[in-house]
Amino acid sequence: MLSEIKQANVLIVGASQGIGLGFVRSLLQQEHIQHIFTTYRNPDTAKQLLDLASQSGDRVKCLQVDITEESNIAAAIKQIQESVKQLHLAIYCVGVLHDQNLTPEKSLRQINGSNLIYSFQVNSIGAVLLAKHLMPLFNKSEPSIFASISAKVGSISDNRLGGWYGYRASKAALNMFLKTTAIEYSRRCPKTIVVALHPGTTDTQLSQPFQKNVPLDKLFSVEHTVTLLSQVISNLSLKDSGEFFSWDGTKLPW
Ligand SMILES: NC(=O)c1ccc[n+]([C@@H]2O[C@H](COP(=O)([O-])OP(=O)(O)OC[C@H]3O[C@@H](n4cnc5c(N)ncnc54)[C@H](OP(=O)(O)O)[C@@H]3O)[C@@H](O)[C@H]2O)c1
Repeated sequence: MLSEIKQANVLIVGASQGIGLGFVRSLLQQEHIQHIFTTYRNPDTAKQLLDLASQSGDRVKCLQVDITEESNIAAAIKQIQESVKQLHLAIYCVGVLHDQNLTPEKSLRQINGSNLIYSFQVNSIGAVLLAKHLMPLFNKSEPSIFASISAKVGSISDNRLGGWYGYRASKAALNMFLKTTAIEYSRRCPKTIVVALHPGTTDTQLSQPFQKNVPLDKLFSVEHTVTLLSQVISNLSLKDSGEFFSWDGTKLPW
């Protein structure tokens, strides 16, 4: 769908590393992509992105956004609006599974309220705040897509193993936010497709501590994941809005 647009403008949120950075690299190879807006939180982890941007002329713009601060999101969108009238694709690649203070729970004994709140802020609430602020950039005549990277472990009906309470629940909440956004967008931004995407286990710092038991052929490189998800995105049509897709284009159950 996007390839039909002569000059497309794209936003990658969470582009400092991992899958988000992979999307930026891939988009840079596509001539019809005119502006690539990107967000990063921490300049220390965003060195590769900032270098890419400085080599790209004016094509890549980097905006600093901590997704837990709505004012940061609003300021970034305002800056984008100063350059373009419409976005054709926005991909939410932000996510947290672990950090210095956060380890995915194996048991109820490890449940910690502040960690749960943090997981929801980053994995779920950030995406719906973005959906709120993106409306003026989507509510236009040309088609557009709002895709968020979710995770199959956020599927309630597919949950057979348990564990990872905060990550699973925050991805399930993300999915509900996206489904609800798709319904409202069908009235307010009727040309915008809203989808959740499962990337498959991908070799990034997020999955790194949990790769031990993943068979090699099930551990995707960032480049492979971006290729697969780009195919899924390019095959989307309006009837797909509000759905949850895996990397191979199959629909996942909620
Ligand atoms: N890798 C996998 O196997 C896998 C599997 C299923 C789903 N996913 C999902 O795919 C998405 C991308 O993950 P990834 O594997 O590429 O992980 P990653 O390399 O750790 O990237 C995560 C991104 O989120 C950003 N981020 C985290 N907290 C943020 C905050 N408060 N404000 C703004 N940005 C923030 C990080 O920025 P910093 O550099 O500043 O930390 C980074 O850019 C996530 O939603 C993840 O849940 C990944």
